[in-house]
Amino acid sequence: MAHVMSPSETDFETAVIQGLKTMKKWIATFVVCVASSASSVTANAATESAAAKTNAAKPAAPTYAERLERGKQVAGSVCVACHGADGYSPVPANPNLAGMPAEYIAKQLEHFKSGVRVNAVMQGMAAGLTPEDMRAVGDFYYAQRGKTQAVARDQKKAERGQQLYRVGIPEAKVPACASCHGGAGVGIPAIYPKLQGQWPDYTLAQLKAYASGERKNPQMNAIAARIKESDLLALSEYIAGMRSK
Ligand code: HEC
Ligand code: HEC
Repeated sequence: MAHVMSPSETDFETAVIQGLKTMKKWIATFVVCVASSASSVTANAATESAAAKTNAAKPAAPTYAERLERGKQVAGSVCVACHGADGYSPVPANPNLAGMPAEYIAKQLEHFKSGVRVNAVMQGMAAGLTPEDMRAVGDFYYAQRGKTQAVARDQKKAERGQQLYRVGIPEAKVPACASCHGGAGVGIPAIYPKLQGQWPDYTLAQLKAYASGERKNPQMNAIAARIKESDLLALSEYIAGMRSK
């Protein structure tokens, strides 16, 4: 069996061994998954009755109503000063939060707290919030939708903005904003933020921050960097005036 392997044979064998190892891992994972789901089915009935008896050591996750109540407390204690009592900010530099997906709000608060999203004021605001508070305040603001919103101020810019929003700029490889944020700008909970009715000053500031890379998000960095400033302004104007039908 004394056979000296050439480098390419060694490479090949290593590759085969690697491949087999990976396959074994997959199979093992699969078996574990099947086994655990099967056992969890049988275990479920048992744990449920056990939990009912012992009243489960772990505190139950707060209900939606409890989260709304907690969110209202948090929002009413500090956030109200800048974001308004119901999430409609009186000041164009402070974003409207009403109707923003709860998950998006929670994610941004986490990003402010950790410094991923840089803003000195909001870092301070988020510092004292637990993940549960972040989710609760998100639920509260999401529930405050459809009251007052910003309006577009410049019809001509808004028309240009509408075209960009719906069609993008194909020659510059800018996709239509509508493809992610929706035709009416309501977004998709947990993935894409709502844009409609937002203060144009805030939207423009964010688009510029994405363009410069100061606010980090791979999708939005690539998109905003390819749009000239006058078009960012047009988009912000259009977005301010957007409404759901
Ligand atoms: C002193 C004013 C001020 C206070 C108080 C304040 N905020 Fe903010 N908030 C801002 C500003 C300004 C921004 C925009 C930051 C930026 O440009 O990135 C912001 C941004 C946000 C965003 C991101 C919105 C988006 O569309 O991405 C969330 C979420 C938020 N604030 C939640 C809160 C919560 C919750 C509280 C209370 C715990 C709070 N804020 C208190 C001024 C404030
Ligand atoms: C491929 C999907 C995608 C497309 C297309 C897209 N966006 Fe976004 N956008 C996102 C995601 C994801 C976020 C949240 C990023 C984050 O967490 O910072 C976002 C965030 C934003 C925000 C920040 C909102 C806030 O409240 O702070 C603005 C403003 C925005 N997008 C505008 C636009 C505009 C204008 C266009 C079209 C030129 C566009 N987006 C196209 C995915 C997309």
